Amino acid sequence: MNITLIGSGYVGLVTGTCFAELGNQVVCLDVDKRKIDLLNSGGVPIYEPGLQELIARNAAAGRLRFTTDVQDAVAHGDVLFIAVGTPPDEDGSADLKHVLAVARDIGRWMQGFKIVVNKSTVPVGTADKVAQAISAELEARGHSPNQAGPQDGNIPSFAVVSNPEFLKEGAAVEDFMRPDRIVIGVPGSEAGNRAREAMRVLYAPFNRNHDRTYFMDVRSAEFTKYAANSMLASRISFMNELANLAEQVGADIEMVRHGIGSDPRIGFNFLYAGVGFGGSCFPKDIQALIKIGQEHNSRLRILEAVNEVNDRQKLVLTDKIIRRFGDSLKGRHFALWGLAFKPNTDDMREAPSRAIIKALVERGATICAYDPIATEVAKQCLAQDFAAAPELLKAITYSDSHFEALNSADALVIVTDWKSFKSPDFSEVKARLSEPLLFDGRNLYEPEAMAELGIEYYGIGRSNGHQESLT
Ligand code: UDX
Repeated sequence: MNITLIGSGYVGLVTGTCFAELGNQVVCLDVDKRKIDLLNSGGVPIYEPGLQELIARNAAAGRLRFTTDVQDAVAHGDVLFIAVGTPPDEDGSADLKHVLAVARDIGRWMQGFKIVVNKSTVPVGTADKVAQAISAELEARGHSPNQAGPQDGNIPSFAVVSNPEFLKEGAAVEDFMRPDRIVIGVPGSEAGNRAREAMRVLYAPFNRNHDRTYFMDVRSAEFTKYAANSMLASRISFMNELANLAEQVGADIEMVRHGIGSDPRIGFNFLYAGVGFGGSCFPKDIQALIKIGQEHNSRLRILEAVNEVNDRQKLVLTDKIIRRFGDSLKGRHFALWGLAFKPNTDDMREAPSRAIIKALVERGATICAYDPIATEVAKQCLAQDFAAAPELLKAITYSDSHFEALNSADALVIVTDWKSFKSPDFSEVKARLSEPLLFDGRNLYEPEAMAELGIEYYGIGRSNGHQESLT
Protein backbone atom coordinates (compact mmCIF):
# COMPACT_ATOMS: atom_id res chain seq x y z
CA MET A 1 0.00 0.00 0.00
CA ASN A 2 1.02 3.63 -0.39
CA ILE A 3 1.26 5.27 2.99
CA THR A 4 2.10 8.78 4.13
CA LEU A 5 3.09 9.78 7.63
CA ILE A 6 2.40 13.43 8.24
CA GLY A 7 4.71 14.34 11.09
CA SER A 8 8.10 12.60 11.31
CA GLY A 9 8.57 12.79 15.06
CA TYR A 10 8.76 9.84 17.34
CA VAL A 11 5.48 8.16 16.42
CA GLY A 12 5.52 9.07 12.72
CA LEU A 13 9.06 7.91 12.14
CA VAL A 14 8.66 4.59 13.93
CA THR A 15 5.27 3.88 12.34
CA GLY A 16 6.38 4.84 8.82
CA THR A 17 9.63 2.90 9.02
CA CYS A 18 7.95 -0.24 10.35
CA PHE A 19 5.26 -0.13 7.65
CA ALA A 20 8.03 0.21 5.04
CA GLU A 21 9.76 -2.82 6.57
CA LEU A 22 6.55 -4.77 5.92
CA GLY A 23 6.76 -3.93 2.21
CA ASN A 24 4.63 -0.79 1.93
CA GLN A 25 5.72 2.31 0.01
CA VAL A 26 6.09 4.99 2.64
CA VAL A 27 6.63 8.74 2.56
CA CYS A 28 7.37 10.60 5.80
CA LEU A 29 6.63 14.32 5.75
CA ASP A 30 7.74 17.00 8.16
CA VAL A 31 7.68 20.78 8.13
CA ASP A 32 11.10 20.84 9.79
CA LYS A 33 13.55 20.97 6.87
CA ARG A 34 16.56 20.27 9.08
CA LYS A 35 14.97 17.06 10.30
CA ILE A 36 14.16 15.92 6.75
CA ASP A 37 17.67 16.84 5.53
CA LEU A 38 19.14 14.84 8.40
CA LEU A 39 16.97 11.82 7.57
CA ASN A 40 17.83 12.08 3.87
CA SER A 41 21.52 12.08 4.74
CA GLY A 42 21.24 8.89 6.83
CA GLY A 43 20.88 10.53 10.26
CA VAL A 44 18.08 9.90 12.77
CA PRO A 45 16.80 12.77 14.93
CA ILE A 46 15.77 10.56 17.88
CA TYR A 47 17.39 7.69 19.71
CA GLU A 48 15.37 4.50 19.49
CA PRO A 49 16.95 1.03 19.52
CA GLY A 50 16.93 -0.59 16.08
CA LEU A 51 15.41 2.38 14.27
CA GLN A 52 18.51 3.67 12.49
CA GLU A 53 19.25 0.29 10.85
CA LEU A 54 15.62 -0.10 9.81
CA ILE A 55 15.50 3.37 8.26
CA ALA A 56 18.75 2.77 6.36
CA ARG A 57 17.58 -0.59 5.02
CA ASN A 58 14.18 0.61 3.84
CA ALA A 59 15.45 3.87 2.38
CA ALA A 60 18.09 1.92 0.42
CA ALA A 61 15.38 -0.46 -0.82
CA GLY A 62 13.38 2.52 -2.11
CA ARG A 63 10.41 1.84 0.18
CA LEU A 64 10.92 4.83 2.48
CA ARG A 65 11.55 8.45 1.63
CA PHE A 66 11.41 11.76 3.45
CA THR A 67 10.05 15.06 2.22
CA THR A 68 8.89 18.53 3.19
CA ASP A 69 6.60 18.73 0.15
CA VAL A 70 3.01 18.52 1.41
CA GLN A 71 1.43 18.21 -2.01
CA ASP A 72 3.70 15.31 -2.94
CA ALA A 73 3.11 13.57 0.40
CA VAL A 74 -0.69 13.89 0.23
CA ALA A 75 -0.71 12.66 -3.38
CA HIS A 76 1.43 9.62 -2.47
CA GLY A 77 -0.63 8.04 0.31
CA ASP A 78 -3.88 6.12 -0.01
CA VAL A 79 -3.66 6.08 3.77
CA LEU A 80 -2.54 9.36 5.36
CA PHE A 81 -1.49 9.05 9.00
CA ILE A 82 -1.59 12.21 11.09
CA ALA A 83 1.23 11.87 13.61
CA VAL A 84 1.92 15.43 14.73
CA GLY A 85 2.33 16.66 18.29
CA THR A 86 -0.54 17.63 20.58
CA PRO A 87 1.32 19.68 23.20
CA PRO A 88 -0.61 20.75 26.29
CA ASP A 89 -2.28 24.15 26.21
CA GLU A 90 -1.79 26.44 29.17
CA ASP A 91 -4.84 24.87 30.81
CA GLY A 92 -3.68 21.29 30.15
CA SER A 93 -5.95 20.55 27.16
CA ALA A 94 -4.37 18.99 24.10
CA ASP A 95 -3.59 21.72 21.58
CA LEU A 96 -5.03 20.63 18.23
CA LYS A 97 -3.54 23.38 16.09
CA HIS A 98 -1.02 21.08 14.37
CA VAL A 99 -3.58 18.31 13.81
CA LEU A 100 -6.09 20.71 12.27
CA ALA A 101 -3.44 22.41 10.13
CA VAL A 102 -2.59 18.97 8.71
CA ALA A 103 -6.30 18.31 8.07
CA ARG A 104 -6.51 21.57 6.10
CA ASP A 105 -3.40 20.61 4.09
CA ILE A 106 -4.99 17.28 3.24
CA GLY A 107 -8.20 19.00 2.14
CA ARG A 108 -6.21 21.44 0.04
CA TRP A 109 -4.27 18.83 -1.96
CA MET A 110 -6.16 15.54 -1.94
CA GLN A 111 -7.56 13.83 -5.03
CA GLY A 112 -9.65 10.66 -5.00
CA PHE A 113 -10.44 8.63 -1.88
CA LYS A 114 -8.16 9.05 1.14
CA ILE A 115 -8.18 7.29 4.46
CA VAL A 116 -7.08 9.82 7.05
CA VAL A 117 -5.84 8.06 10.17
CA ASN A 118 -5.29 9.92 13.39
CA LYS A 119 -2.33 8.53 15.37
CA SER A 120 -1.82 11.60 17.53
CA THR A 121 -3.37 11.39 21.01
CA VAL A 122 -6.38 13.65 20.76
CA PRO A 123 -9.53 14.42 22.74
CA VAL A 124 -12.68 12.48 22.02
CA GLY A 125 -14.45 14.13 19.09
CA THR A 126 -11.29 15.26 17.27
CA ALA A 127 -11.95 13.00 14.26
CA ASP A 128 -15.11 15.02 13.64
CA LYS A 129 -13.11 18.25 13.77
CA VAL A 130 -10.54 16.79 11.35
CA ALA A 131 -13.37 15.79 8.99
CA GLN A 132 -14.87 19.28 9.20
CA ALA A 133 -11.51 20.92 8.46
CA ILE A 134 -10.95 18.70 5.42
CA SER A 135 -14.52 19.30 4.20
CA ALA A 136 -14.14 23.08 4.56
CA GLU A 137 -11.05 23.01 2.33
CA LEU A 138 -12.73 20.79 -0.22
CA GLU A 139 -15.72 23.14 -0.32
CA ALA A 140 -13.34 26.05 -0.88
CA ARG A 141 -12.04 24.08 -3.88
CA GLY A 142 -15.60 23.75 -5.20
CA HIS A 143 -16.25 20.16 -4.13
CA SER A 144 -19.10 19.06 -1.95
CA PRO A 145 -17.52 16.26 0.03
CA ASN A 146 -19.76 13.50 1.14
CA GLN A 147 -18.25 11.30 3.82
CA ALA A 148 -21.06 8.81 3.41
CA GLY A 149 -19.92 7.50 0.04
CA PRO A 150 -16.51 7.39 -1.58
CA GLN A 151 -16.78 8.56 -5.16
CA ASP A 152 -15.08 7.17 -8.18
CA GLY A 153 -12.12 8.66 -9.99
CA ASN A 154 -10.39 11.73 -8.74
CA ILE A 155 -13.33 13.35 -6.99
CA PRO A 156 -12.06 13.85 -3.44
CA SER A 157 -13.71 11.91 -0.65
CA PHE A 158 -12.41 10.54 2.62
CA ALA A 159 -12.98 8.76 5.91
CA VAL A 160 -11.33 9.79 9.18
CA VAL A 161 -10.17 6.86 11.30
CA SER A 162 -8.71 6.76 14.82
CA ASN A 163 -5.78 4.39 15.35
CA PRO A 164 -4.05 5.30 18.63
CA GLU A 165 -0.48 4.19 19.21
CA PHE A 166 0.67 2.35 22.30
CA LEU A 167 4.41 2.45 21.65
CA LYS A 168 6.79 2.66 24.58
CA GLU A 169 9.87 4.75 24.09
CA GLY A 170 12.98 2.61 24.04
CA ALA A 171 10.96 -0.38 22.82
CA ALA A 172 8.95 1.29 20.07
CA VAL A 173 10.14 -0.80 17.11
CA GLU A 174 9.59 -4.00 19.06
CA ASP A 175 6.17 -2.79 20.28
CA PHE A 176 5.15 -1.86 16.76
CA MET A 177 6.25 -5.15 15.26
CA ARG A 178 4.67 -7.23 18.06
CA PRO A 179 1.59 -5.30 19.15
CA ASP A 180 -0.59 -6.71 21.90
CA ARG A 181 -3.55 -4.93 20.35
CA ILE A 182 -4.40 -2.75 17.39
CA VAL A 183 -7.25 -0.37 18.12
CA ILE A 184 -9.04 1.06 15.10
CA GLY A 185 -12.05 3.34 15.26
CA VAL A 186 -13.97 3.71 11.99
CA PRO A 187 -17.02 5.80 11.17
CA GLY A 188 -20.27 3.98 10.50
CA SER A 189 -20.60 4.98 6.85
CA GLU A 190 -19.85 3.56 3.42
CA ALA A 191 -16.52 5.42 3.44
CA GLY A 192 -15.95 4.03 6.92
CA ASN A 193 -16.51 0.46 5.66
CA ARG A 194 -14.01 1.03 2.89
CA ALA A 195 -11.50 2.42 5.39
CA ARG A 196 -12.07 -0.55 7.71
CA GLU A 197 -11.26 -2.97 4.89
CA ALA A 198 -8.09 -1.04 3.98
CA MET A 199 -6.95 -0.96 7.62
CA ARG A 200 -7.57 -4.68 7.91
CA VAL A 201 -5.30 -5.28 4.89
CA LEU A 202 -2.64 -2.87 6.16
CA TYR A 203 -2.44 -4.54 9.58
CA ALA A 204 -2.92 -8.12 8.29
CA PRO A 205 0.79 -9.03 8.82
CA PHE A 206 0.31 -8.59 12.59
CA ASN A 207 -2.74 -10.82 12.75
CA ARG A 208 -1.41 -14.02 11.19
CA ASN A 209 -1.50 -16.13 14.38
CA HIS A 210 -4.48 -14.52 16.01
CA ASP A 211 -6.45 -11.39 15.32
CA ARG A 212 -5.25 -8.58 17.56
CA THR A 213 -7.39 -5.90 15.97
CA TYR A 214 -10.25 -4.30 17.82
CA PHE A 215 -12.52 -2.41 15.47
CA MET A 216 -14.79 0.05 17.22
CA ASP A 217 -16.43 3.42 16.75
CA VAL A 218 -14.13 6.43 16.41
CA ARG A 219 -14.87 8.02 19.79
CA SER A 220 -14.25 4.82 21.72
CA ALA A 221 -10.88 4.42 19.97
CA GLU A 222 -9.93 8.01 20.84
CA PHE A 223 -10.95 7.42 24.46
CA THR A 224 -9.06 4.10 24.67
CA LYS A 225 -5.66 5.78 24.42
CA TYR A 226 -6.35 8.14 27.31
CA ALA A 227 -7.92 5.35 29.35
CA ALA A 228 -4.87 3.08 28.90
CA ASN A 229 -2.33 5.72 29.88
CA SER A 230 -4.44 6.88 32.83
CA MET A 231 -4.83 3.34 34.12
CA LEU A 232 -1.08 2.69 33.90
CA ALA A 233 -0.14 6.01 35.51
CA SER A 234 -2.68 5.36 38.30
CA ARG A 235 -1.00 2.05 39.11
CA ILE A 236 2.36 3.79 39.42
CA SER A 237 1.12 6.59 41.66
CA PHE A 238 -0.80 4.08 43.80
CA MET A 239 2.31 1.94 44.24
CA ASN A 240 4.34 5.03 45.07
CA GLU A 241 1.88 6.04 47.79
CA LEU A 242 1.91 2.50 49.17
CA ALA A 243 5.73 2.58 49.11
CA ASN A 244 5.80 5.78 51.14
CA LEU A 245 3.46 4.25 53.70
CA ALA A 246 5.41 0.97 53.71
CA GLU A 247 8.45 2.90 54.93
CA GLN A 248 6.41 4.32 57.80
CA VAL A 249 5.03 0.97 58.96
CA GLY A 250 8.20 -1.07 58.39
CA ALA A 251 6.95 -3.07 55.39
CA ASP A 252 8.94 -3.63 52.19
CA ILE A 253 7.22 -2.53 48.97
CA GLU A 254 9.21 -5.08 46.95
CA MET A 255 7.75 -7.91 49.05
CA VAL A 256 4.32 -6.36 48.71
CA ARG A 257 4.78 -6.06 44.94
CA HIS A 258 5.40 -9.80 44.67
CA GLY A 259 2.54 -10.52 47.04
CA ILE A 260 -0.02 -8.60 45.02
CA GLY A 261 1.37 -9.06 41.51
CA SER A 262 0.90 -12.82 41.76
CA ASP A 263 -2.86 -12.20 41.69
CA PRO A 264 -3.60 -12.51 37.95
CA ARG A 265 -6.23 -9.81 38.30
CA ILE A 266 -3.44 -7.42 39.31
CA GLY A 267 -0.40 -8.81 37.43
CA PHE A 268 3.25 -7.89 37.86
CA ASN A 269 3.69 -5.20 35.23
CA PHE A 270 3.79 -1.54 36.11
CA LEU A 271 3.96 -2.07 39.85
CA TYR A 272 7.39 -0.58 40.43
CA ALA A 273 7.66 2.15 43.01
CA GLY A 274 10.21 4.81 42.19
CA VAL A 275 10.73 8.53 41.71
CA GLY A 276 7.57 8.97 39.67
CA PHE A 277 6.65 8.76 36.01
CA GLY A 278 7.73 11.18 33.32
CA GLY A 279 7.90 11.20 29.54
CA SER A 280 5.92 12.67 26.72
CA CYS A 281 2.70 10.75 27.30
CA PHE A 282 1.59 10.07 30.85
CA PRO A 283 1.83 13.60 32.35
CA LYS A 284 0.35 15.27 29.25
CA ASP A 285 -2.41 12.75 28.64
CA ILE A 286 -3.51 12.76 32.26
CA GLN A 287 -3.76 16.54 32.26
CA ALA A 288 -5.73 16.40 29.02
CA LEU A 289 -8.18 13.78 30.32
CA ILE A 290 -8.69 15.75 33.55
CA LYS A 291 -9.55 18.76 31.38
CA ILE A 292 -11.94 16.73 29.22
CA GLY A 293 -13.67 15.55 32.40
CA GLN A 294 -14.04 19.13 33.64
CA GLU A 295 -15.45 20.27 30.31
CA HIS A 296 -18.07 17.55 30.45
CA ASN A 297 -18.92 18.14 34.07
CA SER A 298 -17.55 14.73 34.98
CA ARG A 299 -14.61 15.43 37.24
CA LEU A 300 -11.89 12.75 37.39
CA ARG A 301 -10.86 12.94 41.05
CA ILE A 302 -8.68 9.86 40.97
CA LEU A 303 -6.63 11.21 38.07
CA GLU A 304 -6.20 14.55 39.80
CA ALA A 305 -4.68 12.66 42.73
CA VAL A 306 -2.50 10.55 40.41
CA ASN A 307 -0.91 13.74 39.17
CA GLU A 308 -0.47 15.30 42.59
CA VAL A 309 1.12 12.13 43.97
CA ASN A 310 3.49 12.01 41.01
CA ASP A 311 4.65 15.62 41.41
CA ARG A 312 5.37 14.90 45.06
CA GLN A 313 7.06 11.58 44.33
CA LYS A 314 9.68 13.22 42.15
CA LEU A 315 11.03 14.77 45.35
CA VAL A 316 11.01 11.81 47.75
CA LEU A 317 14.65 11.06 47.05
CA THR A 318 15.58 14.67 47.71
CA ASP A 319 13.62 14.49 51.00
CA LYS A 320 15.69 11.49 52.04
CA ILE A 321 18.91 13.29 51.15
CA ILE A 322 17.83 16.32 53.18
CA ARG A 323 16.89 14.13 56.14
CA ARG A 324 20.36 12.60 55.97
CA PHE A 325 22.41 15.78 55.45
CA GLY A 326 20.21 18.58 56.77
CA ASP A 327 18.35 21.34 54.94
CA SER A 328 21.39 23.10 53.53
CA LEU A 329 23.38 21.06 51.07
CA LYS A 330 26.06 23.70 50.66
CA GLY A 331 29.42 22.05 50.07
CA ARG A 332 27.80 18.66 49.37
CA HIS A 333 28.62 16.94 46.11
CA PHE A 334 26.52 14.16 44.59
CA ALA A 335 27.02 11.65 41.81
CA LEU A 336 23.80 11.20 39.85
CA TRP A 337 23.25 8.17 37.62
CA GLY A 338 20.51 8.47 35.02
CA LEU A 339 19.01 11.61 33.49
CA ALA A 340 16.48 10.29 30.94
CA PHE A 341 12.92 9.74 32.20
CA LYS A 342 13.44 6.01 31.67
CA PRO A 343 16.11 3.71 30.18
CA ASN A 344 16.85 3.30 26.45
CA THR A 345 15.84 6.80 25.51
CA ASP A 346 17.37 10.26 25.53
CA ASP A 347 13.97 11.77 26.25
CA MET A 348 14.10 14.28 29.11
CA ARG A 349 10.48 15.44 28.97
CA GLU A 350 9.09 15.59 32.53
CA ALA A 351 12.06 13.50 33.68
CA PRO A 352 12.22 13.17 37.49
CA SER A 353 15.96 13.94 37.27
CA ARG A 354 15.09 17.55 36.41
CA ALA A 355 13.09 18.09 39.60
CA ILE A 356 15.71 16.28 41.68
CA ILE A 357 18.67 18.22 40.25
CA LYS A 358 16.84 21.52 40.69
CA ALA A 359 15.97 20.79 44.32
CA LEU A 360 19.54 19.71 45.17
CA VAL A 361 21.30 22.56 43.38
CA GLU A 362 18.96 25.19 44.82
CA ARG A 363 20.01 23.95 48.28
CA GLY A 364 23.65 24.54 47.45
CA ALA A 365 24.76 21.08 46.29
CA THR A 366 26.96 20.33 43.29
CA ILE A 367 26.30 17.36 41.02
CA CYS A 368 28.24 15.23 38.58
CA ALA A 369 25.76 13.43 36.33
CA TYR A 370 26.15 10.43 34.08
CA ASP A 371 23.66 9.07 31.56
CA PRO A 372 24.48 6.58 28.78
CA ILE A 373 22.82 8.72 26.08
CA ALA A 374 20.72 11.61 27.42
CA THR A 375 23.47 14.02 28.49
CA GLU A 376 23.29 16.42 25.54
CA VAL A 377 19.49 16.63 25.64
CA ALA A 378 19.67 17.04 29.43
CA LYS A 379 22.02 20.03 29.12
CA GLN A 380 19.47 21.84 26.95
CA CYS A 381 16.56 20.99 29.25
CA LEU A 382 18.42 22.04 32.39
CA ALA A 383 19.40 25.33 30.74
CA GLN A 384 15.66 26.00 30.39
CA ASP A 385 14.90 24.86 33.94
CA PHE A 386 17.54 27.24 35.34
CA ALA A 387 16.67 30.12 33.00
CA ALA A 388 15.88 32.33 36.01
CA ALA A 389 19.17 31.54 37.77
CA PRO A 390 21.66 30.46 35.04
CA GLU A 391 24.63 30.81 37.40
CA LEU A 392 23.40 27.67 39.18
CA LEU A 393 24.12 25.63 36.05
CA LYS A 394 27.79 25.80 37.03
CA ALA A 395 26.94 23.45 39.90
CA ILE A 396 26.18 20.66 37.41
CA THR A 397 28.95 18.79 35.61
CA TYR A 398 28.71 15.70 33.43
CA SER A 399 30.87 12.63 33.10
CA ASP A 400 31.30 10.13 30.27
CA SER A 401 31.83 7.32 32.73
CA HIS A 402 29.50 6.22 35.50
CA PHE A 403 32.48 5.40 37.71
CA GLU A 404 34.24 8.73 37.18
CA ALA A 405 31.02 10.54 38.07
CA LEU A 406 31.41 9.04 41.57
CA ASN A 407 34.76 10.63 42.35
CA SER A 408 34.72 12.31 45.78
CA ALA A 409 30.92 12.46 45.89
CA ASP A 410 29.19 12.44 49.27
CA ALA A 411 26.64 9.96 47.90
CA LEU A 412 25.43 8.24 44.76
CA VAL A 413 21.89 9.13 43.68
CA ILE A 414 20.26 6.78 41.15
CA VAL A 415 17.38 8.22 39.16
CA THR A 416 16.95 6.07 36.01
CA ASP A 417 16.96 2.27 35.91
CA TRP A 418 19.41 1.75 33.05
CA LYS A 419 20.42 -1.93 32.79
CA SER A 420 24.10 -0.98 33.01
CA PHE A 421 23.51 0.29 36.58
CA LYS A 422 22.14 -3.02 37.82
CA SER A 423 25.34 -4.77 38.90
CA PRO A 424 28.19 -2.30 39.22
CA ASP A 425 31.45 -3.25 40.86
CA PHE A 426 30.52 -2.08 44.34
CA SER A 427 34.11 -2.10 45.59
CA GLU A 428 34.85 0.48 42.89
CA VAL A 429 31.73 2.44 43.84
CA LYS A 430 32.84 2.51 47.49
CA ALA A 431 36.41 3.38 46.64
CA ARG A 432 35.43 6.42 44.61
CA LEU A 433 32.72 7.85 46.87
CA SER A 434 33.89 9.86 49.86
CA GLU A 435 31.26 8.01 51.91
CA PRO A 436 29.60 4.65 51.07
CA LEU A 437 26.14 6.16 50.76
CA LEU A 438 23.54 5.34 48.12
CA PHE A 439 20.09 6.84 47.43
CA ASP A 440 18.36 4.52 44.99
CA GLY A 441 15.26 5.98 43.31
CA ARG A 442 14.56 2.76 41.36
CA ASN A 443 15.10 0.01 43.92
CA LEU A 444 17.84 -1.60 41.85
CA TYR A 445 19.55 -3.28 44.80
CA GLU A 446 18.64 -5.32 47.85
CA PRO A 447 19.01 -3.53 51.19
CA GLU A 448 20.50 -6.64 52.87
CA ALA A 449 23.15 -6.98 50.17
CA MET A 450 24.01 -3.29 50.55
CA ALA A 451 24.28 -3.67 54.32
CA GLU A 452 26.65 -6.62 53.85
CA LEU A 453 28.79 -4.49 51.53
CA GLY A 454 28.89 -1.77 54.15
CA ILE A 455 26.89 0.65 52.03
CA GLU A 456 24.37 2.90 53.71
CA TYR A 457 21.37 2.42 51.45
CA TYR A 458 18.07 4.25 50.98
CA GLY A 459 15.55 2.86 48.51
CA ILE A 460 11.90 3.69 47.90
CA GLY A 461 9.52 1.90 50.25
CA ARG A 462 12.16 -0.49 51.56
CA SER A 463 12.02 -1.40 55.23
CA ASN A 464 15.12 -3.39 55.92
CA GLY A 465 17.77 -0.91 54.90
CA HIS A 466 17.12 2.08 57.08
CA GLN A 467 13.92 2.39 59.00
CA GLU A 468 14.67 6.05 59.52
CA SER A 469 11.02 7.06 59.80
CA LEU A 470 10.27 4.45 62.46
CA THR A 471 12.58 6.00 65.01
C1 UDX B 1 3.76 5.18 27.77
C2 UDX B 1 2.85 3.97 27.52
O1 UDX B 1 3.42 2.80 28.15
C3 UDX B 1 2.66 3.74 26.04
O2 UDX B 1 1.75 2.65 25.81
C4 UDX B 1 2.11 5.02 25.42
O3 UDX B 1 1.97 4.87 24.03
C5 UDX B 1 3.01 6.21 25.73
O4 UDX B 1 3.21 6.31 27.14
P1 UDX B 1 6.40 5.66 27.67
O5 UDX B 1 6.06 7.06 28.08
O6 UDX B 1 7.35 5.44 26.56
O7 UDX B 1 5.05 4.89 27.22
O8 UDX B 1 7.00 4.93 28.94
P2 UDX B 1 6.66 3.73 29.93
O9 UDX B 1 7.62 2.63 29.73
O10 UDX B 1 5.23 3.38 29.90
O11 UDX B 1 7.04 4.43 31.34
C6 UDX B 1 6.43 5.63 31.74
C7 UDX B 1 6.98 6.12 33.05
O12 UDX B 1 6.52 5.33 34.14
C8 UDX B 1 8.50 6.13 33.16
O13 UDX B 1 8.89 7.34 33.78
C9 UDX B 1 8.82 4.94 34.04
O14 UDX B 1 10.02 5.10 34.76
C10 UDX B 1 7.62 4.96 34.97
N1 UDX B 1 7.30 3.65 35.55
C11 UDX B 1 6.89 2.63 34.75
C12 UDX B 1 7.34 3.47 36.93
O15 UDX B 1 7.69 4.39 37.69
N2 UDX B 1 6.98 2.27 37.45
C13 UDX B 1 6.55 1.22 36.69
O16 UDX B 1 6.23 0.17 37.25
C14 UDX B 1 6.53 1.41 35.28
